[in-house]
Parts: sequence; C-alpha cells; structure tokens
Amino acid sequence: MEDKVFTIREQFPILGQDLVYLDSGASSLTPEVVLEAMNIYYRSYRANIHRGIYHLSELATVEYEGARVKVAEFIGANRAEEIIFTRGATDGLNMLAEMLGSRVSTGQNIIIPVTEHHSNMLSWRELARKCNLEIKYIYLKDGILDEQALLDAIDDNTSIVVIGHISNVLGTIHNIKQVAQKAHTKGALCIVDGAQAVSHIPISVSNFGVDAYVFSGHKLYAPTGVGVLWVKYNLLEQLTPSRNGGDMVDYVNLENIEYAPIPQRFEAGTPPIAEVIGLARAINWLQEIGWNYVQFHEQDLVQYIWEQVSLRPWLQVLGGGREQLRIACFAFIIDNIHTHDVAYLLAKENICVRAGQHCASGIAQVLGISGSTRATFGIYNTRQDIDRLMQALDKIYAKFQ
Ligand code: ALA
Repeated sequence: MEDKVFTIREQFPILGQDLVYLDSGASSLTPEVVLEAMNIYYRSYRANIHRGIYHLSELATVEYEGARVKVAEFIGANRAEEIIFTRGATDGLNMLAEMLGSRVSTGQNIIIPVTEHHSNMLSWRELARKCNLEIKYIYLKDGILDEQALLDAIDDNTSIVVIGHISNVLGTIHNIKQVAQKAHTKGALCIVDGAQAVSHIPISVSNFGVDAYVFSGHKLYAPTGVGVLWVKYNLLEQLTPSRNGGDMVDYVNLENIEYAPIPQRFEAGTPPIAEVIGLARAINWLQEIGWNYVQFHEQDLVQYIWEQVSLRPWLQVLGGGREQLRIACFAFIIDNIHTHDVAYLLAKENICVRAGQHCASGIAQVLGISGSTRATFGIYNTRQDIDRLMQALDKIYAKFQ
C-alpha cells in the first residue's frame, strides 16, 4: 500500500523539484487530472451556464450541474439543491452569517470556540454585533477544545453554535454530531466549518445532523476560487439571498422580484465554472483512490510523526498528546526559537510550512504564545518528507543552542 503514494505523486509534477510540501492545510496541490478537466472546459466548451441555448453553453451547464450532484453525493447531502457553490469557505461562512440575521433576535447567544479560524469567528462576531447577540466563547482544556464545556454552554437562549470540524492549528477532530444533537434540543442551529476536514475524513452531513457545512475546493486538491456552502433544504427555504445579481431571479421588473428556485437564487452572477468542474474532478480522483487508502496513509504519517517527535523532547506539539484523534496537522513550538525563524530556515531547505497564528489567533491568545510552526500533510506526503523535516529541525535546534 505504501507504494501507492509514489503513483499518486506522479499527478503532482511540482513535487519533482525536490520539494517537501507541508502546507496542505493552507492550500493543497492540484493533480494533473484536475488541471486537464479545467483545460478541456476552456479549450472545448467555454461558455457561460444557464444562459445560452447553444451547444457549448448547454454542455457547460450539464457539467456544472453534474458537479453539484457529485458534491452532494460526496458529502452525503439528501438533495443536490442543498449545494451552493461559493468562492470558498470564507465566502460561504460570510454569506450564511449575513443570511441568518433574519433568524436571530436581540438577547440570544451564539457559541464560538476559541479554536475557530477567523472565517468562522469574525463572520459571527459581525452578526452578533449587528443583532446584539451575546457571544459565548468556549476555551481549551488540556490543550484541546473543551467539547464538554461547549455542550454545557448551549442553553435555551442559544441561536447558533459554530464549530470547525477539524481545528486548522491543532488538527483535532471534533464530535460535531454530538454538538448538533445538543444544539437541536435547544432549538439552535449547528454550523460547521469543514475546510480542514473534507480531504481527510469521509463526510456525511445527513448522518452528522448539522444544519450547514462549509468548505473550500483548494484544500481538497481542487482549484482556488471555489467553495461549497451546504445548507439543509428546509433552512434554505427560510433564507433570503445575501448576494444579488444576474441569474438568481426568475422575474424582475422595476418594482418586483421573484427569486429563481433554490439553489440558483443563492448563486448570483457568473460562478467559477471551470473551478466547479475542477472540484468535481478532484472529488472523483479522491474517490478513485478511496477513503480506505486516504485514512490508512494519513494515520501512518501521524504515527510516524509521533515516533519522531518522541525522540525530540524540545519539540512541543500543540493539541494534546498521542491519544488524541487527529489528522496529520502538527503545529509545534521550540523554546527560544521564533516560529518565523523556524519556517524561514525550513524554506531554505525547500520545506514549505506555515508559521504564525494560522488565522486562528484565539488559540495563540489563550495559550499565551506568539504563534507556532505548522506542518500539514496531504495525500502525496511520505515518511521521507517527515525525515527531511526532522533532519532540518535538528539542524535548526542545534544552530540556536
Ligand atoms: N485556512 C488556511 C490555513 O489554515 C489558510 O492555513
């Protein structure tokens, strides 16, 4: 099974440049088959969708709508109409926060874990500001999100609970099914940021029982500029579009508007057509590889990283210990060496990592650290990449002693 990774790597010529790419949490690389699918669109049937009655436009529409069905199936949605294509997870979360303004009232509260990425924090803080909602932050316990405190905080006044499925810093996987169940007993909505999850673990929004689930294509081996906002159909029916423009109305005159059916009413303007086609191809490609392999490979990397970390007591990994359920996302600190120095010196060895607060400053604030260096792994990474990282870190550590 380990050999399969080398076949997968052939889809990523960029890796041939002696590159150790450990920043897939920020953005994954894109396989050739996805680039080819987008090229075919640009070369052979480049046209707008839903608008033309000529062959090329019809073909583009079929591919675009086919992508919607593919995404729905991939995340276990009950209906393809529940899939709204966006520009990315940030766009989807902002749209949702704007649209939910009509469903909340002054004095209610919104629950936000301090672990949230800024996309899943600032959008809701803005909603809280506009609608006078109380914000209840949920803190860490033993270095990870205190999920019990989150469940306990949900009360009769809670309107919305937001949570990242997987923390983009700690790599920890949260029990969103349990959160949704508790939220629903109090009449609250459960909104999930799945940006870090979709390429690592199988998703079934129906099984999780959440109300909305959001992610970006570019962390799922798909292009940048496309994302998905999934919202349960009966909630979508209650929302008014937050974006206005072409292709989202059935009828409009100078006085009246009749919105187009769901989901088109939520997709104003020309969407990222090539990117949506690329997203569908990326999902297909991942499905061809299969979840069994994806998860086996990832957990092999997780185990190997822990083995290597245990040999280096000076490497402090954030997000709990080895027993913690996590993906291969490792943020770490080394005493007395600035996180940006670590990343800079790794970059000189052609090793790409991210340093700083990773757009999730709540974690750094509550831990009292300036930031961390983060290595995040994708389906193309190998144990050899981990060896290269560790050897480079050994050199950096030695240099600063
Ligand atoms: N959200 C991305 C990250 O965690 C950009 O790096």
